[in-house]
Amino acid sequence: MSKVLVTGGAGYIGSHTVVELLNRGDEVVIIDNFSNSNKDVLDSIRKITGKDFKFYEIDYLDKDKVEKVFEENEIDSVINFAGFKAVGESVEKPLEYYHNNIGGAVILLEVMKKYNVKKFVFSSSATVYGDPEIIPITEECKIGGTTNPYGTTKLFIEQILQDLYVSDNTWDICILRYFNPVGAHESGLIGEDPKGKPNNLMPYITKVAAGILPELSVFGNDYDTKDGTGVRDYIHVVDLAKGHLLALDKLDKENKGIFIYNLGTGNGYSVLEMIEAFKKVNNVDVPYKIVERRPGDIATCYSDPSKAEKELGFKTTKTLEDMCRDGWNYQKNKM
Ligand code: UFG
Repeated sequence: MSKVLVTGGAGYIGSHTVVELLNRGDEVVIIDNFSNSNKDVLDSIRKITGKDFKFYEIDYLDKDKVEKVFEENEIDSVINFAGFKAVGESVEKPLEYYHNNIGGAVILLEVMKKYNVKKFVFSSSATVYGDPEIIPITEECKIGGTTNPYGTTKLFIEQILQDLYVSDNTWDICILRYFNPVGAHESGLIGEDPKGKPNNLMPYITKVAAGILPELSVFGNDYDTKDGTGVRDYIHVVDLAKGHLLALDKLDKENKGIFIYNLGTGNGYSVLEMIEAFKKVNNVDVPYKIVERRPGDIATCYSDPSKAEKELGFKTTKTLEDMCRDGWNYQKNKM
């Protein structure tokens, strides 16, 4: 049993990971400032797991308060989910994104160094590959050429972690490059609940199906893909959450190092395929119209997940059907 600090633990991926950590008997300390999450999530986590955790409502930019958390708890490892994540907003507010995401990560690492806690799992993103050279994308593919400040914060933090490891190889770091997380916990108690209008496809689809938004805009049907719409590697958030536990195990077991893994399923689905699957599985209507391409979007992005399978034992088990059903179940529960 180890004690894991989870920053952004009330958020979408963070909360699902906390559930898996508690379920397997780890102790958890969460810090979150609810900038893009809700206090109710904490109770939902307790309800799902029947277990408790320590919680601090703090901003990870507040170094003194972060230090206090390390002072008061014997932390073994840190998973950093905290960060702003809206691509479009990052284009309008680049300084806020660099300040928050990079500043927060650096502060966290400084405090970890001070308290000699050197196991770190970082939420990165497939966005670091830019417009990928080859599909499926392996971890060997060139990174860079990000198309928005949000993506660039992920890229820069990866570089900071590389530099940190070069300076001190007693760190143990795992960088996880997520593809497109969707769905929700099967209890329907936690899920993705973006504040305001959703940026991402699945939360938008669920809000249209629920009648909260009138119709979905499909951003372009003239890409060089099977049906002209964008193709992505959607991964169930519970599968993704479990990947973090395997990453922690790797850091516990192996020699020191800096490790990088894609977390995806290896399957690519188009926007139209997602709409059709959602309609069929949930027996609902999702009206849509085709509109212009969204600036910065790429045609196709899906992973080669074999490195994570080989080295972590990571294998997704949830199907596209599960993703659609669980996402809708969560939405219905909130109505
Ligand atoms: N899409 C629509 N209509 C919408 C929203 C999305 O047609 O209203 C399309 C997009 O054009 C794209 C696909 O649905 O083809 C998926 O779009 P998302 O916004 O859901 O996801 P992205 O692949 O653009 O971005 C996601 C995350 C980023 C991350 C990136 C990594 O949001 O944080 O994956 O590949 F960086």
